[in-house]
Amino acid sequence: MNNLLEFLAASPSRFHAVENFRKELEAAGYTRLTESKSWSLTPGGKYYVTRNGSALLAFRVPKAGFAGFMISASHSDAPCLRVKENAELTGPETYVRLNVEKYGGMLCAPWMDRPLTVAGRVLVQTENAIETRLVYVDKDLLMIPNVAIHMNRAANDGYKYDLKCDMVPLLGLGLEKGSFRSIIARTAGCAPEDILGTDLFLCPRQRGVQWGAADEFVSAPALDDLQCAYGCFHGFLAASESESLPVFALLDNEEVGSLTKQGADGTFLADLVSRVCAAMGRDRAEAVANSFLVSADNAHAVHPNHPEYHDATHRPVMNGGPVIKHGVRYATDGAAQAVFTALCKRAGVPVQHFSNRSDLAGGSTLGNISNSHLSMNTVDIGLAQLAMHSCFETAGARDTDYLIQAMTAFYSASFREENGTFTL
Ligand code: CO
Repeated sequence: MNNLLEFLAASPSRFHAVENFRKELEAAGYTRLTESKSWSLTPGGKYYVTRNGSALLAFRVPKAGFAGFMISASHSDAPCLRVKENAELTGPETYVRLNVEKYGGMLCAPWMDRPLTVAGRVLVQTENAIETRLVYVDKDLLMIPNVAIHMNRAANDGYKYDLKCDMVPLLGLGLEKGSFRSIIARTAGCAPEDILGTDLFLCPRQRGVQWGAADEFVSAPALDDLQCAYGCFHGFLAASESESLPVFALLDNEEVGSLTKQGADGTFLADLVSRVCAAMGRDRAEAVANSFLVSADNAHAVHPNHPEYHDATHRPVMNGGPVIKHGVRYATDGAAQAVFTALCKRAGVPVQHFSNRSDLAGGSTLGNISNSHLSMNTVDIGLAQLAMHSCFETAGARDTDYLIQAMTAFYSASFREENGTFTL
């Protein structure tokens, strides 16, 4: 994919995002590893492995041994509406709607009055196995209509959304029972009765745009966190070989706490580190102590209409470069901050800082959770954006390139620690 917006348009679900990275890795000569089989790795080899179709790890083995791991971790999922198993709601009148639930901490209002569709995966019974197929219904399929102001005069005075009632998308009028499943089956190329399981999510149909008086901004679905994933991935691909082993990690379920086999609170990344160390005859504890993790998940830019939500001296702006996140819910400490800052200096990339306003809790991310399984020096960063967890978010158009440059420098470096002294 030539640019971020093209990648986002081709990635309407986490499964599609992983598949798009996977294809790029194949084109770049990476070999697929399978978790359920043994691995034989060779110096100079390039590999990737997926878990659940929604998480992916890619890495290269340096030719002459390695000190430790240089890892970036971002997430593939975004807050959205998830389609429930028995999806069709019939009535009132002849309306047919879809039964959905909230996935993650979404902003509700942006999902209304805009064309939506469904994307994800289905599990299909074939002759000998159960097969995974990605689906994207490529049509304006659904809409969540607002109530007219004439009927809800309080709509502009702070409305409380009732998820079971307000956020239910409309599919059609007087449809035959099973119509939704038939649409999904047709898209998947199978019979409706052969679908044994589904993971389907609503997604907006509007493609991402670059806009502003000087094209300063990009707006699109899922910038949190696919902008960071895209930037880290291209830094990973562009980097030159060092004495560390570069790993690109894309994990799932960050928006619902990461507590899944394919999330940061699962063993996917730690399993990879163990298997690589075993295959290459490297002491695991020694390698991990010489390792560094960049946890990359988008950050909040100062809001033009509500600057008061930001801390007095931590006010990131779009197109100001990567943002280092500080605070008790982040893994960043002074040492990790210093290492990342030095790498950005090396790359000629500006760095900004974020800290919550002292009376606001803010969000959490991958860094601390990943550290509970694989403890290493870790910095939490992100790119500054507006409208986080809307279904159409806004970020700086130049920041993706800043992240690619910073991560190219990161993956081209090799990190070593000795009792509080760090070399890069
Ligand atoms: Co995020």
